[in-house]
Amino acid sequence: MLTIVLLGATGQLGQALTEDLTALGTVLTPNRQELDLTDSTAVQQWFLQHPADLIVNAAAMTDVDGAERNSVLCEQLNHQLPATLATIAKEQHSWLCHFSTDYVFDGKKTEPYVETDETDPRQQYGRSKLAGEHAIISSGCRYVILRTSWLYSHSGRNFLTTMLSLAPNRQEPFLVVDDQVGAPTSATAVADAVVSIFSQIVAMSQEQARAVSGIYHLTAAGECSWYEFANTIFYYAVDEGLLEQQPEVLPTDSLSLNRAAKRPANSRLNNQKIQKTFGIELTAWQHQLADCLQLIKKHTETGK
Ligand SMILES: NC(=O)c1ccc[n+]([C@@H]2O[C@H](COP(=O)([O-])OP(=O)(O)OC[C@H]3O[C@@H](n4cnc5c(N)ncnc54)[C@H](OP(=O)(O)O)[C@@H]3O)[C@@H](O)[C@H]2O)c1
Repeated sequence: MLTIVLLGATGQLGQALTEDLTALGTVLTPNRQELDLTDSTAVQQWFLQHPADLIVNAAAMTDVDGAERNSVLCEQLNHQLPATLATIAKEQHSWLCHFSTDYVFDGKKTEPYVETDETDPRQQYGRSKLAGEHAIISSGCRYVILRTSWLYSHSGRNFLTTMLSLAPNRQEPFLVVDDQVGAPTSATAVADAVVSIFSQIVAMSQEQARAVSGIYHLTAAGECSWYEFANTIFYYAVDEGLLEQQPEVLPTDSLSLNRAAKRPANSRLNNQKIQKTFGIELTAWQHQLADCLQLIKKHTETGK
């Protein structure tokens, strides 16, 4: 059994991982009071007391527009923290599992991005996440970086939960962009994949394990625009009895919304490498969404 340290356990991916990672070993989840993730020295000292076989870093600053205003915190969490964790992983011979994003790309490619495609982030969030990737790669530690996209879960603040909470009292139509295409991916699916990856890695020889250390794209199968995602959320939510009727959704474009941070038009990530290396192929985004809405319904019914 492994000793695992999970950072960011309260986030949407962190919550899914907290449940799943127990399949691999003992999971420590230090919270903000126990460990200040913006303080590199504190993080290094904490790991001296709590050495791990596997460090899973689900902590990040994920407020993409907020990152434009608070670049210091964004750098601390998305760049310096993974850099510190990579140094620790190298020193303690641990594995580091880290998460990154489609926002490392400029979105101009017409095909889904592969891992080796040139990166060119167009906003502070993507630049800081890319710097985090580079720090891990150059550290010499053994790592798995999973780039995923459009993450959501049944709880926390994300596009799905926001849309569901606003819908019942909505008087005017929702305006949702139809010029950004990607794959909405459930946190549960990513967490399940992490367990599968590390179950395989622990069974490998040192040499085999070293060979699979690297960066991987991991998203739900298929693609849609945010506009299509919103409509499908409402369609399924009515079907599940979570909403009485489907609110009106109108398509708009990214320019009209005038948000602080630019988003890539093409967020599609090619998943062939992870499929070939670990045999992992996530289900279609519609399937993951339906599962998530069923879970929301269950929680609503049980009052949790
Ligand atoms: N969300 C997406 O659409 C998306 C897409 C692609 C990739 N990713 C990547 O996937 C990973 C997980 O994302 P997520 O959506 O699960 O994130 P999330 O829900 O925003 O959770 C972030 C976690 O980081 C913690 N955190 C943030 N600031 C902190 C601070 N100053 N000190 C200590 N802890 C702090 C949060 O703790 P609190 O709960 O205490 O705030 C929370 O546990 C990230 O690496 C992200 O970049 C996300």
